[in-house]
Amino acid sequence: MDSRKEHALEMFAQLPGSYDEVAAAFSFLQDGRWRKAMVAAVAARPGERVLDVACGTGLVSAALVGRWGCEVVGLDQSAAMLARARRRVAADPRLAGRVGLVQGEAEALPFADREFDHLTFTYLMRYVEDPGETLRELVRVVKPGGRVACLEFCVPTGIWLWPWRLYTRIGLPALGRLVSRGWYEAGRFLGPSIEGLYRAYPLARQVALWEAAGIGRVSVRRMSLGGGVVIWGTVGV
Ligand SMILES: C[S@@+](CC[C@H](N)C(=O)[O-])C[C@H]1O[C@@H](n2cnc3c(N)ncnc32)[C@H](O)[C@@H]1O
Repeated sequence: MDSRKEHALEMFAQLPGSYDEVAAAFSFLQDGRWRKAMVAAVAARPGERVLDVACGTGLVSAALVGRWGCEVVGLDQSAAMLARARRRVAADPRLAGRVGLVQGEAEALPFADREFDHLTFTYLMRYVEDPGETLRELVRVVKPGGRVACLEFCVPTGIWLWPWRLYTRIGLPALGRLVSRGWYEAGRFLGPSIEGLYRAYPLARQVALWEAAGIGRVSVRRMSLGGGVVIWGTVGV
């Protein structure tokens, strides 16, 4: 197992208990808006099947069902995050018949080619060794004409860059320390991890990877002063 994956598994094993609440607080309640924008871009029809990769505690899976009345399979490599997602699904009769949860890896999906109508992934690419190859694997399981949509943190530009750096380097670890050791580690990790992604894969390069993987009409929407970004496109056009 590569060290990036090992670190992700270790980190997320400690976060699920408070993930939904802390993620919302640390993003100044912006992450809900970002998820909503990503889910809107999917435009699924009732009954269609959507694969939600890196589903974590199931926030996106639940939002997909709520917005589109579709069927969702949520996939995540973390047993701990999936356990929280299972509790969410079991507690909500609207989700119980519509959301299935599977432990697995984005790099090697346990599904046949073109099994899904659409696909979402959230905060995933910072945890994989080869984003281009992972994107090709994600596209493999989507039918031609299906939408792929993702949400990721982003790095603000201009006057907001330094306040963002201060917040991610000092504010996030300090807030994390108030919650738990696990959130302190996650708070310290996040800023450098986000900047690392955009140093290696600036947005224009990410769009080129999406296109190379077979996704057309790629759109990018930066949100909340550039702190979040939603990317979406259509397979095979
Ligand atoms: C920050 S959480 C995102 C959870 C959720 N989708 C949300 O909206 O907040 C990132 C998730 O990605 C999962 N993950 C990271 N790398 C993965 C991989 N290679 N394959 C599958 N899941 C992965 C982690 O286990 C974690 O649950």
